[in-house]
Amino acid sequence: MLKAKIAVLVSGGGTNLQALIDSQGKTLNSGEISLVISNNADSYALTRAEHAGIKTAVVRRADGDFEGRIIRLIEENEIDLIILAGFLCVLSENFTSHFPKKIINIHPSLIPSFCGKDFYGLHVHEAALERGVKITGATVHFVNEITDGGEIIIQKAVEVQDGDTPEILQRRVMEEAEWQILPMAAEKVSNSIIRRNTDV
Ligand code: GRF
Repeated sequence: MLKAKIAVLVSGGGTNLQALIDSQGKTLNSGEISLVISNNADSYALTRAEHAGIKTAVVRRADGDFEGRIIRLIEENEIDLIILAGFLCVLSENFTSHFPKKIINIHPSLIPSFCGKDFYGLHVHEAALERGVKITGATVHFVNEITDGGEIIIQKAVEVQDGDTPEILQRRVMEEAEWQILPMAAEKVSNSIIRRNTDV
């Protein structure tokens, strides 16, 4: 069966990448991970990809032409869907407009809460605890020129519990939301891409 070719962009530990890898052949059937690109050579996500036999590449911003080199890798590998999974670099409008409705991102809050500039990683959960929300969660959305501003694809709510620290809450949001909805969103978007490609 024809599958969408997926590139996953990472920066850190890669637990969302691991959830995608583990979902192949289960939740994720309409797409397959063909390439993992990191802006950080020390990212453990690269090790996870190598263990799964997936092609990897490192593109450092310091080496220049950062987005151009990523675009070339995407095109050379005939990628249909780009997934940002813990990828910490903001991509320009020039990049996002290159791939309309073909880039998705996982954000660890219920957008529009706690999103946008400076809301990433633990900072998101620190802000949720500071505000005193009782429910938080995660969102998968399309990526456009507005940080965390693209169309929402899937969301999942997670309860905030008494005594939560940012680290405890982050872990619960990952386990109960991120690692579940990212494979589901990857399947949904991959399926629509291959249907679009096969419609004459
Ligand atoms: C985590 O804060 C996660 O909530 C967000 O990106 C960070 C790293 O995720 N999506 P990962 O373990 O590298 O996938």
